[in-house]
Amino acid sequence: MANVPFIDLQHEWKEQEADIQEAIHRVLQNGTYILGEEVRKLEEEIAAVSGAGYGIGVGNGTDALVLHLYALGVGPGDEVITSPFTFFATAEAIQQVEAVPVFADVRSDTFNLDAEDVARRITPRTKAILPVHLFGQMADMTAIAQLAKRYQLYVLEDACQAIGAQWEGHGPGALSHGASFSFFPTKNLGTCGDGGMIVVNDPELAERLRRLRVHGSRRKYHHDEIGWNSRLDELHAAILRVKLQRLDVWNEQRRAVAAIYNDLLNDLPLSVPHVDKRALPVYHLYTIQAERRDELHAYLRDRGIGCGVYYPVPLYRQRALRKLDYKPEHYPHAEALVRNSLSLPIFPGMSREQAETVGAFIRQFYEGS
Ligand SMILES: Cc1ncc(COP(=O)(O)O)c(C=O)c1O
Repeated sequence: MANVPFIDLQHEWKEQEADIQEAIHRVLQNGTYILGEEVRKLEEEIAAVSGAGYGIGVGNGTDALVLHLYALGVGPGDEVITSPFTFFATAEAIQQVEAVPVFADVRSDTFNLDAEDVARRITPRTKAILPVHLFGQMADMTAIAQLAKRYQLYVLEDACQAIGAQWEGHGPGALSHGASFSFFPTKNLGTCGDGGMIVVNDPELAERLRRLRVHGSRRKYHHDEIGWNSRLDELHAAILRVKLQRLDVWNEQRRAVAAIYNDLLNDLPLSVPHVDKRALPVYHLYTIQAERRDELHAYLRDRGIGCGVYYPVPLYRQRALRKLDYKPEHYPHAEALVRNSLSLPIFPGMSREQAETVGAFIRQFYEGS
C-alpha cells in the first residue's frame, strides 16, 4: 500500500513556520486587524506579480468575481460568456449580479474556453467574456482579446487557480479588464482560511472596488452606494505576504512534478495535459484524460494514491442552473471531460519517488503487473 496524498500542505508550512509565526505575531501586536498596511502591501505585491495596476483584497475568490462584475456595471439582462467546465463559483458570480451565464464549450486539449465557440455565442446582449484559467494554465487570451475588441466586450479573468501563470509573458489581469484570485488554502498561493483579490488596470475601477468591498464607503460612516462587507483580513494578508516569497519556487516545483508525470505516462492510453506554447502553466492540478477513468480512479485510491475528479458535473447540468435550459449536446468537449478527467497528486515538496509511485501504479493498471 502506497501513501501519496492528493495534496499535502505540511511542506509549505514547515518551510516557513518561523516566518509565518512572526507575521502573525506582528499583526496581533500591531492591533490593526482590518484594512491596514499588510493588505495594502499585499495588494501592491499581487498587482506586481500579475502585471496589473492595482490590487483590491476581498473576502474570497467568489466575492472577487461578483464585485468585479458589479463594478464594471454587468447586471440584469446582460449575458456573460464563460466556461461550463469550472468550479460552480464562476457562474454563481454571474447570477449573483443577475446577469445570465452563457456557456461556450471548452477545448478538449487545454480544458479552457474555445474562442471559436465563444464567437458563436455572442449576441447583442453580451456584455463580457469570463475565461477561467483552469488547472493553472491561462486560456487563449490573444483570441479572447481579439473578440472583445471586435464586439466591445469586457474581459474578466477567473484566475483563482492560476496565480503566477502567464500568457505570452503576461500575468492574469495585465491585458484585460482585470482578474480575480482566490487564496483558499489549497490554491497555489493559499492562506489558512478564505481570501481573495481583484487586480485591475483602471484607477477609477480600483477606487470603486475599494468602496464596494466596504459598504460602499470611502470615508467612515459616509456611504456613496450599496456595497458589500468583503475584506481580506490583515492576518491573512500577512501570512500571504510570507508565502508569496516562495510562490515562484513552488510553481517551479509543480512544473517539475508535471515533467516527471509527462515522461512516465506519455505512452499509456491517456492524454497528459497539453500546454500551449504561449502559456506558462502553474499546474494547480495535473489532470489527465484517461480511458476507463472510474476504474483507474478506484484502482489508485485502493492503493493509497489520492486522486480527484475535477469536475464531475458541468455547470449547465447543475440543478441550480437548470432553468437556463442549456443542452448537453452543445458541449461535446465538456461532456467528454467530465467522463475522462482525473487529477493526480501534485503539490510543492512532492518528491520524485512519490510521482514515480503514482506513475508505476497507473502503468500497472493499464499493462497489468
Ligand atoms: C475556478 C474557480 N473560480 C472561483 C473560485 C472561488 O474561490 P473561493 O473559494 O475563494 O471563493 C475557485 C476556488 O474555489 C475556483 O477554483
